[in-house]
Amino acid sequence: MPKPTLSSMAAGEAAASTPLPEKPLATAKRSEIEGFMVMDVMNAASALERKGRNIIHMEIGQPGTPAPEAARNALRRALETDNLGYTLALGSDPLRQRIAQHYGETYNLDLDPARVIVTSGSSGAFILAFTALFDIGARVALPCPGYPCYRQILKSLDLVPELIETSAAGRWMPTFDDIEKSHQKSPLDGLLVASPANPTGTMLEPERLQELTDACHRLGLWFISDEIYHGLNYEMPATTALTYSDEAIVINSFSKYFSMTGWRVGWMIVPERFVRVFERLAQNLFICAPAASQAAALGAFEGAEEVDANKQTYARNRTLLLQELPKAGFQNIVPADGAFYLYCNISAFGMTSPELARRILEEAGVAITPGIDFDPIEGQNYVRFSYARSTADIAEATRRLIAWHQGFQ
Ligand SMILES: Cc1ncc(COP(=O)(O)O)c(C=O)c1O
Repeated sequence: MPKPTLSSMAAGEAAASTPLPEKPLATAKRSEIEGFMVMDVMNAASALERKGRNIIHMEIGQPGTPAPEAARNALRRALETDNLGYTLALGSDPLRQRIAQHYGETYNLDLDPARVIVTSGSSGAFILAFTALFDIGARVALPCPGYPCYRQILKSLDLVPELIETSAAGRWMPTFDDIEKSHQKSPLDGLLVASPANPTGTMLEPERLQELTDACHRLGLWFISDEIYHGLNYEMPATTALTYSDEAIVINSFSKYFSMTGWRVGWMIVPERFVRVFERLAQNLFICAPAASQAAALGAFEGAEEVDANKQTYARNRTLLLQELPKAGFQNIVPADGAFYLYCNISAFGMTSPELARRILEEAGVAITPGIDFDPIEGQNYVRFSYARSTADIAEATRRLIAWHQGFQ
């Protein structure tokens, strides 16, 4: 019998003689998570753009601006002088030191650079933190609505997201009582809070942040603080959880304030005695964050003027939207304290958020995200607007939305 060749195998000739496995191949249960809906909205928007439509993108949570010039210059220099091979798993020493210095400059905290871990975006930090801190089946409380990837990453690691309902009246933030009640019902292992938050943009006042870090301390829970939107706060200063607890796990990123989403570089601060645990995992899971991005991130700290100008643009956009969106039928918007999002109730439109988002995309040419990405139940009644683009774009979006709303009535 002739030996099967690659081409005969491709044609299926060899398959006839190979018995089928008794148990059909199947992917793992932990892979059964939902997609990131905002990416699906982007796909639908791109499909319309390919047909020649002009779409204003208010769905995706990323700055319309590139990385600061100082970051791009740092990369240019690194290309000339550095081989950009693997860095240490915890990150390049100069970047870790510069991040620690940032805590002195921004929060007046003396932070040991040894506690800084550079990661592949904050997304890499979540995988590291969840793997390091929680055993299979551990329950992690998440305020709802919240960033959808938290719950999907937890599920993919066989951990249990425990959604804590919040309300517009409570600025979409959990209270000490909420956490205690949930813990009594079914013991928790951790709490993850973002302030400013996605999708609502609201923040925890310093005393409420302290209340939560204290509660976690008392109940023996990990407190994970997602501080990715720090620097983008309009109403009150952003306080790091490290102010109140050295046991907090603080996660941050160059994606938002530094306008470097695609560079995939973020960081995490962990208690000193656990650094080695994180290092072992980082070595095995990622080896290191991209060296070129680390070089650029170090330069980004010199780009304060540019990133502050971006922030001024977001502040103008926010004011414009708070003024104009009610004219387009979006009522009772909680003035968001930070980030670049507004989360709006849509009950007045008489349709679900996926339906409204689809109609606004197709009929008004504005891409927005349905709330069910952030809250599987109540999110039917909300949509999120991201305003991290030029003010001209946001002004045009409001004109289109108001005109669409006039036709809708
Ligand atoms: C609250 C929050 N955390 C984390 C991330 C992930 O960001 P990255 O992995 O780019 O740092 C996002 C992205 O939108 C976010 O909104």
